[in-house]
Amino acid sequence: TVLVVDFGAQYAQLIARRVREARVYSEIVPSTTPVAEMLAKNPAAIILSGGPSSVYAEGAPRLDREIFESGVPVFGMCYGFQLMATTLGGTVDNTGAREYGRTPLYVSKSGSTLFEGTPDEQPVWMSHGDACSAAPEGFTVTASTDVVPVAAFENDEKKLYGVQHHPEVMHSTYGQQVLEHFLYRGAGLTPSWTTGNVIEEQVAAIREQVGTKRAICGLSGGVDSAVAAALVQKAIGSQLTCVYVDHGLMRKGETEQVEKDFVAATGVQLKVVDAQERFLDALAGVSDPEEKRKIIGREFIRVFEQAQAEIIVEAAEGEDVAFLVQGTLYPDVVESGGGTGTANIKSHHNVGGLPEDLEFELVEPLRKLFKDEVRMVGQELGLPEEIVQRQPFPGPGLGIRIVGEVTKERLDLLREADAIAREELTAAGLDRDIWQCPVVLLADVRSVGVQGDGRTYGHPIVLRPVSSEDAMTADWSRLPYDVLAKISTRITNEVADVNRVVLDVTSKPPGTIEWE
Ligand code: XMP
Repeated sequence: TVLVVDFGAQYAQLIARRVREARVYSEIVPSTTPVAEMLAKNPAAIILSGGPSSVYAEGAPRLDREIFESGVPVFGMCYGFQLMATTLGGTVDNTGAREYGRTPLYVSKSGSTLFEGTPDEQPVWMSHGDACSAAPEGFTVTASTDVVPVAAFENDEKKLYGVQHHPEVMHSTYGQQVLEHFLYRGAGLTPSWTTGNVIEEQVAAIREQVGTKRAICGLSGGVDSAVAAALVQKAIGSQLTCVYVDHGLMRKGETEQVEKDFVAATGVQLKVVDAQERFLDALAGVSDPEEKRKIIGREFIRVFEQAQAEIIVEAAEGEDVAFLVQGTLYPDVVESGGGTGTANIKSHHNVGGLPEDLEFELVEPLRKLFKDEVRMVGQELGLPEEIVQRQPFPGPGLGIRIVGEVTKERLDLLREADAIAREELTAAGLDRDIWQCPVVLLADVRSVGVQGDGRTYGHPIVLRPVSSEDAMTADWSRLPYDVLAKISTRITNEVADVNRVVLDVTSKPPGTIEWE
């Protein structure tokens, strides 16, 4: 394992992903972890990430010197580089020599492990205020910039390396190569970590955890729950039962994808609960977005718990249903402060004759993976492309894409419009360019139109294509006009009661991605 020490900001996750792209397994540890604890994990190498602090700021994170004396190869980037410099006796000063953004780096390759085979001058991404002016004793300076005399250094004998820039970001053109030189040449690692290993490892771990007991998994139609379920199915087969709550708020074809294609690909036992009417009844007369979200969430839990209770009742005598499968991903684990092992969650339910609280142990086979790795695992497990590559879709589904009251007719209408938009975006090869494209029905708005020889008085449909990296911020996608024209023509021609298609050109912030 390569440990990535997280000094804050968003850098550590990106570094961990880049290491895995080099097919070496990596994990993130907070910089507050005692060095002895890091070393106890027996890391093959350690990477110190960048961070928002100045090494001179009060309370700036430090590292025990022992980390550089343990013999484990260490690579410091940005803040990690400056920390390595100051800890080992080099000089970092606050000269006002700031560099932000793309910067030319001048590389001296003689005796350099990191830069071999890369150009003498290369663009890198910088983001720092302080600058290193003297490397620690025993280190060779291997790069500089117009303002920073020491922009990289190496001590091959001690296996210590550092760069001022951010090799993990895309704008550092040779960044991945530099990182790989550290991993393969500096630390002597071999690229052997693959999603195939993950599957084997997880299958063994799940078998060990679950033993002969039974497990339940809720499917949402999304990537994470589908891949988690497929992995658990591969491990324990018929000991797993999946539950899919059909709340009637899914898009066209999505329920069938789960019911037919997912089952065909995995052989999973699936319990489908048709709760469409129940959800429609609960939503009747409600148009407030928060109210709708609350109702959908509440009904979902009730239906799911009822299905869970039925599975427990149906289980044969002596069979213990003790596990709940969840598609938790690595970023969630990192952001919630890490931690290993399993948490117990309580499931309340209202079926008579069963204990008041049921305790389930969690099975979380994806908790070490990033989203793109989950997709690769799904692909390797043979899941349908439509599920593996699916764009984000909110839990409350189309219920929050109808502005106004949710009714069966409106849902059917929106489903048609959404299906047309998706079909045309796919046909134009734009699926990978956009993050997602909500299609929204303004059910409470009507406008006058003309079709054939007659006046119409119909509803508008809003297209909300966005590009984003994490849904926290987003920009509206500049879709080609001809694609927009085709979608508009088809929706107004093919969907009854819709006589206008409008494009949402708002970024997030100030708009959110969804309309409700
Ligand atoms: P907003 O609208 O807040 O959405 O910009 C950000 C991302 O989250 C998705 N989203 C949800 N996902 N349950 C979910 O699982 C929800 O209740 C929910 N609401 C929004 C949205 O589609 C976008 O990707």
